[in-house]
Amino acid sequence: MQLKRFKPGMLPDYGLFNCDRLSAVREEVQYSLRCLPSPESFLPRVYNRNRNTVIAMSDIYEKIMDLAKRRGFIWPTSECYGSVAGFIDYGPLGSMMKRNIENAWRKFYIIQEGYYEIECPIIGQEDIFIASGHVKGFSDKMCQCPSCREFLRADHIAEAHGVTGASVLGTEDLARLICSLPCPACEEVLGPVEVFNFNLMFQTAIGPGSQRRGYLRPETAQGMFTDFQRLLRFYRDRLPFGAVQIGKSFRNEISPRQGMIRLREFTQAEAEIFVHPGEKDHPAFSRYEGYFVPLLSITRQEEDLPPVNCTMGEAVREGTIANQYVAYYLALTHQLLVSIGVNPDKLRFRQHLPDERAHYAEDCWDAEVFSDRFGWVETVGIADRTDYDLRAHERQSGERFSAFIPYDIPRKESRIRVTPDMGALGPRFRGEARAVAEALCASIPGPDGLTVTIGGKPVHITPDLYTVKEEISEVPGTDVVPHVIEPSYGIDRMIYAVLEHSYFEEMVDGEERRVLRLPPGIAPVQVAVLPLMNRDGLPEIAREIVDGAREEGVIAEYDDSGAIGRRYRRQDEVGTPFAITVDYETREDRTVTLRDRDSMRQVRVPVEGIGSLIRSLVEGRLSFAGL
Ligand code: ATP
Ligand code: GLY
Repeated sequence: MQLKRFKPGMLPDYGLFNCDRLSAVREEVQYSLRCLPSPESFLPRVYNRNRNTVIAMSDIYEKIMDLAKRRGFIWPTSECYGSVAGFIDYGPLGSMMKRNIENAWRKFYIIQEGYYEIECPIIGQEDIFIASGHVKGFSDKMCQCPSCREFLRADHIAEAHGVTGASVLGTEDLARLICSLPCPACEEVLGPVEVFNFNLMFQTAIGPGSQRRGYLRPETAQGMFTDFQRLLRFYRDRLPFGAVQIGKSFRNEISPRQGMIRLREFTQAEAEIFVHPGEKDHPAFSRYEGYFVPLLSITRQEEDLPPVNCTMGEAVREGTIANQYVAYYLALTHQLLVSIGVNPDKLRFRQHLPDERAHYAEDCWDAEVFSDRFGWVETVGIADRTDYDLRAHERQSGERFSAFIPYDIPRKESRIRVTPDMGALGPRFRGEARAVAEALCASIPGPDGLTVTIGGKPVHITPDLYTVKEEISEVPGTDVVPHVIEPSYGIDRMIYAVLEHSYFEEMVDGEERRVLRLPPGIAPVQVAVLPLMNRDGLPEIAREIVDGAREEGVIAEYDDSGAIGRRYRRQDEVGTPFAITVDYETREDRTVTLRDRDSMRQVRVPVEGIGSLIRSLVEGRLSFAGL
């Protein structure tokens, strides 16, 4: 690798597409590998068609990034000024695909679950992040290589050399551990280096004069916590309820050299489900009770065993998953990821080990997706965060973050009321009489009275100085601080996983075909309409079909440039699931050829009603094989 030298304090930036860096990156990504399965189980990929041979792929990351750049999925940002690592642009096809994935997510959380979406500011005032703990604790352990001056994640260096749980070690321990290890960038032994905490939040000032400190949010979640009381009222003061948000989050990652996996600006889709702390049975658990999910529990990690498929009902009964809510969202996440094109054989759910789980969390799982380049990558985090967030905001703001839960039937509760006799207390205790009375009211005296401490001295209060009465009252309900179940999705990582898992190369009749087998609902273009010739009235019919498809809400593209075979290949490469060819027969009998991307089969269908036919195919209400 070509060595670069950087001035101290200057972060080296590697473009997303910089292939010179890729061999170094390949080693570096070993950081994120945990319990790597045998690679043979994934490569080569055999697509089950007799006349096609799937080409065993190496360098899939380079191929996908090349395709993404060439065809308008993902571009390096502000290229004309030299792009900055950790930031990307989504091009026309990438933006469309991103929107489709976000909408697939919404189908689950908004339509299926019935939660409403909110939209909070990206910049938040400091109090929010003091309460959440981000100001104090949202930092990574960093060091700078004395030889090449590159900034590095100290815990990642240790983990790459077999140290487990390095992220929870202190700075001095880490410095001791890594001093004999080589720098992953220049390979010189690091020697004595200082390891320090680097806060990942981008800081800004709100208003002129920098009076008010603000931060770019590092997660979308906080807006849903700070809006808790308003959300509670919106949901008519009943638990459980959920709020969701899709939006940008920002983390000033130390060395974002994993392309779309580690960005400084990325999109999160998060749900916060507020539940009664004593009722963690999901009301619709039957939906996923029998659903199988590959689970890598703490025990299986400790025993070095692979994930095991388990139904959610069984996992909760056996105590592997803490409660039905967490299990429900594990299954929902599995279903969602597979529906957008993640290969189920490359998906597992790994439970956080006790030392990586936040102290307040009851249970925490990551949906990890296997990437040929990056190994197992956390793509979704699902946690039972208990009442930690709401209590933290209650403390910081002084506002109430609880819900009043009425009992089904008001409860009769008995209370002991102590009434001080002020006429007797005054002469006895003089200036301390009020303090004695308050202490009395806050306690339940025994048969011989009560001893309290006033002004640092013990004071005995005899029974003749007060009366005690038992009162029965009717209590309509109780205040509870809800617990929060949080599934947190990284949309950019989902997009990368879908691209990698849908990319195939195969030989078709002696020619190489590159194809993205994206689910039709995720593909950026859903149908391509191709006039066989650019004359004789064929373009006019093709445009009429495009208009009809668009009226049906289908994303249709007209393409008349080049030979028909090349046009098919172009559409295959961007994942267009269906192509319609208008030929001379169309003029005679108003039928066209409809081609399926995956099987490459073609059928003849009438022009009339073709828009709604494509819509049914895209929505999965009809299958191509059934035509
Ligand atoms: P990692 O350990 O990989 O840094 P994390 O544990 O910090 O991830 P969370 O804080 O749980 O991640 O964030 C929730 C989700 O947001 C992650 O599962 C991931 O998909 C996404 N995410 C987090 N950081 C980034 C990033 N820098 N770039 C892209 N996506 C991210
Ligand atoms: N809200 C979870 C996270 O982003 O860390």
